[in-house]
Amino acid sequence: GNNSMNAKLVLLGDMGTGKSSLVLRFVKGQFLEFQESTIGAAFFSQTLAVSDATVKLEIWDTAGQERYHSLAPMYYRGAAAAIIVYDICRMESFERAKKWVKELQTQGNPNMVTALAGNKCDLADKREVLTEASCVSWTLSLVSSLSSNATLVDEAQAYAEENGLFFMETSAKAAINQKDCLVLNQFSSQQE
Ligand code: GTP
Ligand code: MG
Repeated sequence: GNNSMNAKLVLLGDMGTGKSSLVLRFVKGQFLEFQESTIGAAFFSQTLAVSDATVKLEIWDTAGQERYHSLAPMYYRGAAAAIIVYDICRMESFERAKKWVKELQTQGNPNMVTALAGNKCDLADKREVLTEASCVSWTLSLVSSLSSNATLVDEAQAYAEENGLFFMETSAKAAINQKDCLVLNQFSSQQE
């Protein structure tokens, strides 16, 4: 029908976590092993059908390098949804993701839907950030060997729940959840 809306979506997260790769996978169905680091930000638009509505997504893929941090508010201001991306193989990128969550909680639009995406889940053997799902499926057997670091268990999922974030692990490379991550979770909650 006549049901159409525009929605601004912003991707935030440390450099190299795969923000541009998730967007490229989503918009063009492609993946590049040597994706160039984003300068400033990149814009994409994509129209899609969600239930019987048409949503025109205006996607801002920001640059993760610290020197661009001060530009971020320009991109998350007025955004309907934010996806904060970390790399499951780099704990430091998860810590950085938490800082983004704090920044959005204090300075972002309070109605903004926020999702946390643990990207590169195809690289499970290099995993540093654990989740409930990963624990159940394959890490459980390793947990004892990681017990020196037992607080890592379920860290991401639990953190997301505490902070009211949608959460999923994704892979731009293996095309896992990248679409759900960018679309379904973001808007299902807004249509009610
Ligand atoms: P900045 O623009 O610097 O903030 O980085 P970014 O977050 O946009 O990361 P980018 O998409 O440029 O990806 C960084 C590197 O990770 C690239 O070499 C990608 O090929 C790789 N990469 C991205 N997503 C995945 C993934 O899901 N799995 C694997 N194995 N590699 C990935
Ligand atoms: Mg990028």
